[in-house]
Amino acid sequence: MKLLIVGGGGREHAIAWKAAQSPKVEKIYCAPGNAGIGTCAECVDIGVMEFDKLAAFAREKEIDLAVIGMDDPLVGGIVDVFEAAGIRVFGPRKNAAVLEGSKAFSKDLMKKYGIPTAAYENFDDPEKALSYLETASMPIVLKADGLALGKGVLICNTLEEAKEGVKSIMMDKKFGSAGNQMVIEEFMTGREVSVLSFVDGKTIRTMTSAQDHKRASDGDQGLNTGGMGTFSPSPFYTDEVDAFCKQYIYQKTVDAMAAEGRPFKGIIFFGLMLTEKGPRVLEYNARFGDPEAQVVLPRMKNDIVEVFEACIDGTLDQIELEFEDNAAVCVVLASEGYPVSYEKGKEIRGLDAFQGKEGYYVFHAASRYEDGKLLTNGGRVLGVTATGADLKEARAHAYEAVKWVDFSNKYCRSDIGKAIDEV
Ligand code: AMP
Ligand code: GLY
Repeated sequence: MKLLIVGGGGREHAIAWKAAQSPKVEKIYCAPGNAGIGTCAECVDIGVMEFDKLAAFAREKEIDLAVIGMDDPLVGGIVDVFEAAGIRVFGPRKNAAVLEGSKAFSKDLMKKYGIPTAAYENFDDPEKALSYLETASMPIVLKADGLALGKGVLICNTLEEAKEGVKSIMMDKKFGSAGNQMVIEEFMTGREVSVLSFVDGKTIRTMTSAQDHKRASDGDQGLNTGGMGTFSPSPFYTDEVDAFCKQYIYQKTVDAMAAEGRPFKGIIFFGLMLTEKGPRVLEYNARFGDPEAQVVLPRMKNDIVEVFEACIDGTLDQIELEFEDNAAVCVVLASEGYPVSYEKGKEIRGLDAFQGKEGYYVFHAASRYEDGKLLTNGGRVLGVTATGADLKEARAHAYEAVKWVDFSNKYCRSDIGKAIDEV
């Protein structure tokens, strides 16, 4: 089979690396890809939002399966364009990707079908939002409705802050049209867990759990980022939590989407908070997490291409997912200054050390070649993943491998996976 993967980050590198192990796969293309992805796929210089060009490329190369890694093209309707062009594609159609694309939609869905989440109100008028805040208790959470690069959520401790937040989202349009509508919701506390799943429209199969570290600095301090590291499994995702989510969240979400005439095929990523009152859905995403994929996929035993095909064909009920009985930790190596301002184009050295070392992986988030040199090309540069018998060992291995790699403005957190010591 010939595959086309759409995206160019660490997540897509992990997907390409995993798909390359399938005996069914003879060739992988990735658009636009990056230097690391180029080791297991041929990179194609087409942007992820250039749907017609991508479809024409897929037709020309007789692609058997396209896999969409990223949220923007999914929410923009790339799957519908590919299907209309007769290309077999893994991912939700536009009418289902709205589960991630509109927070107002997902909150209304959860309310209508009784799926546990934070109490909330939707607003499309900033004046109404401001007057609602007058009677609300603090802290409170403001969310821009649309995609905002993971930055559209504001946690406000005072009424003043919340009013400023409403102004910046809805009036100053800090997140662009994503702020045409907004959700104001109850502030919850608890551990966060990510559970990714494959869905074929009716059947859902959850993967092993993971946890992200979103803040830039140690001790979960500093600015929010796309994710500075992950670990899997989460020790807080107990059998009891799993049973609760199976009963009240996972299948209910899939059934709700089908009942709304929006059957979901692809990945549903459940962002959960384990509150004192039980697990609650914080958010849904319609794709693999980045860097969650970098710890979940190295632990997955199945042929991922078979699972992609089962989702498309509606035969996921015939597949059981299997994961190694081990643990994985991914430490993101970023450019100093990320997520605000940072330099690019620094030479990356030391990746040869990963050659032939089982259980050690380096997934590229932003790298490129110039004159034969491998250079940094963004804020998050590499994800160094290592496995181990348990989380402690996986963390020790990951930080050992972090030392092998060097670039002049290399920055990483030193406490990825550390929450596990408290268990
Ligand atoms: P989201 O994009 O909806 O996952 O929100 C981003 C982050 O904001 C989450 O990972 C949480 O850390 C935090 N967050 C979102 N909603 C809430 C909430 N209702 N209460 C507390 N924290 C929240
Ligand atoms: N790591 C969080 C996300 O991919 O949205």
